[in-house]
Amino acid sequence: MTHETLGFIHRFEPGPDAARPLLLLHGTGGDENDLLPLGRMLAPGAALLSPRGAVSENGMPRFFRRLAEGVFDEADLRRRTHDLAGFVAAARDRYGLGAPLALGFSNGANIAAALLMLRPQVLAGAVLIRPMVPLAEPPAADLAGKPVLILSGALDPIVPVENARRLAAQLTAAGAVVAHRTLPAGHGLSQADLGLAADWLRDIERPRAA
Ligand code: MLT
Repeated sequence: MTHETLGFIHRFEPGPDAARPLLLLHGTGGDENDLLPLGRMLAPGAALLSPRGAVSENGMPRFFRRLAEGVFDEADLRRRTHDLAGFVAAARDRYGLGAPLALGFSNGANIAAALLMLRPQVLAGAVLIRPMVPLAEPPAADLAGKPVLILSGALDPIVPVENARRLAAQLTAAGAVVAHRTLPAGHGLSQADLGLAADWLRDIERPRAA
């Protein structure tokens, strides 16, 4: 069921694991329904929280405005990142959730990266699929020990490999525990992404279960 409360159109799917929900953040032109099957597959049992980006680019939902492909309106990005942080706090309250792990694709991965840098307490960690550096001058964030998986495409026409490496370096410098894998893929999601994300999610859960 789609809800129109808490400041974002969103879907919420309860699960037995409300302590570690997934925050699903779609790519440009997607919506709150897109990543639910992926979330169910990658984190069976996790509660799923899936907002729709509030910006429309010629009818395509996004999480923040851009001036051109790969060129962001940073003032808008900053504002929308704080809006999303407010939504996560309100949703945690409403649905009784722990801090979520973000699973973001493309534009969704970029706002997840901005959330890590601007509001480091909001996320427990993140899977960023095809992200790029969101902020030209990121603030000094404290991400001590937060797990982050970055999945890049060696043939991605939107995100140069060097740009994704820079993002990994920024997050590592802030204290995050970053795994960065570059796949023989373009900007689109591939089967290899799913396998790597599933393995990584299992690995970070393992210490908790032990
Ligand atoms: C963005 O605008 O966030 C990136 O260019 C990725 C995209 O949405 O195509």
